Amino acid sequence: MSLFRTKNLDDLLAQARAPGHGLKKVLGPLDLVLIGIGAIVGTGIFVLTGTGALTAGPALTVSFVIAALACAFAALCYAEFASSVPVAGSVYTYSYATLGELVAWIIGWDLMLEYGLAVSAVAVGWSGYFQSLLSGLGVSLPVALTAAPGAVPGAQTWFNLPAFAIVLALTGMLSLGMRESSRLNNVMVAVKIGVVLLFIVVGARHVRPENWQPFAPFGVNGVLSAAALVFFAFIGFDAVSSAAEEVKRPERDLPIGIIGSLAVCAALYVVVSLIMTGIVPYREFLGVDHPVSLALQRADETWFAGFVDLGAIVGMTTVILVMAYGQTRIIFAMSRDGLLPRRLSALHPRHGTPFLATWLVGGVFGLIAALVPLSVLAELINIGTLAAFCLIAVAVLVLRKTRPDLPRAFRCPGVPVVPLLAIALCVTLMTFLQPTTWIAFGVWVALGLVVYFGYARRRSLLGGGGRGASGR
Ligand code: ALA
Repeated sequence: MSLFRTKNLDDLLAQARAPGHGLKKVLGPLDLVLIGIGAIVGTGIFVLTGTGALTAGPALTVSFVIAALACAFAALCYAEFASSVPVAGSVYTYSYATLGELVAWIIGWDLMLEYGLAVSAVAVGWSGYFQSLLSGLGVSLPVALTAAPGAVPGAQTWFNLPAFAIVLALTGMLSLGMRESSRLNNVMVAVKIGVVLLFIVVGARHVRPENWQPFAPFGVNGVLSAAALVFFAFIGFDAVSSAAEEVKRPERDLPIGIIGSLAVCAALYVVVSLIMTGIVPYREFLGVDHPVSLALQRADETWFAGFVDLGAIVGMTTVILVMAYGQTRIIFAMSRDGLLPRRLSALHPRHGTPFLATWLVGGVFGLIAALVPLSVLAELINIGTLAAFCLIAVAVLVLRKTRPDLPRAFRCPGVPVVPLLAIALCVTLMTFLQPTTWIAFGVWVALGLVVYFGYARRRSLLGGGGRGASGR
């Protein structure tokens, strides 16, 4: 039964509200919406929309709506939890209090796949745009340092230096503290929203409705396959909930942050994909890794296209920042519970940040970004996230039964229908991912179980492990 031991929710609440406890409380609702948008708008819209358009045709817009719906149902579940258990660690902490230690461990392990690999994947996308900007200025890196081994057929590439460098630079910022990082994030998010709006205003004038015919050339299958892919574009809104412990008024602000950022991004994606496929016939996105700016180039708006390139670089920078942030906070929470080495939750005396955990994340996922091609990373991230979303929906249902009395500042509407719809939609999208992705995911979960039974279970504070250890 110890596998299913749960944390006491009342203790968690008391812990989170105790003055002076844990992380500094510096974030307000606008910061949270911007953290959400910072995590969401990035590689998905600036890079993957090209492949999405090839898979679904102009009906890519519908794929975005389907992926957004899956996220919206999951977001409502997230918001309920986040507003009732505002403690660092996102869905990991929530499931520890509801479904038990083993499930919480699997979820935490799973989230490492989501946030960590997203840091790497988006850094690779960033590197591509950065190098194209450099080449526009007449500067080029030695080929060996431009991409991971085997990433470019026929080229002797060894190490993606820009991807590695951007992850380390942002790690340095995060390690200095959330207030500073959040300020920079706010500025960068404003720039990227400005660029997306610019695309909409400039691009709308060049739409030719005949490009929307046929609207769904590959039928329902194409639309759903594209939805499973562009789901990536929405990943990140859940990072808002991983900031729970640093929020001034979490009960009110977390639901605003989660649902607000998702709604803004869904609206932007639907309009951008409609305009993109309205300017350029969808077939012409074959092999294109900058589809949004390509659309403007085709419309002879090269000046604005350059702006979009710059905005994409800024946009992806914020995604890396927020994903790395989410990752360190999950490691922090798991370490504080004794499931990972205690040193990983030690706070820096001056900056108040989990310093070691932050640099560990930066080092490991910076190296992965430098050494692994993007295509290998993307689907794995989607499956890890979809699985985590299913589990959080299950957790909402369980908590409503086991703790109906718990005060919930935000209640997910339409329970049990909404959580069940979240599960159904997420599972449907998962079935459209490659068999190799399922196998790799299985291997990752199996590895997690080995670590749990070999280490974490014995060290768990809840199980009495590591008693007498110092630190929280
Ligand atoms: N949603 C994030 C992006 O599109 C991961 O880059």
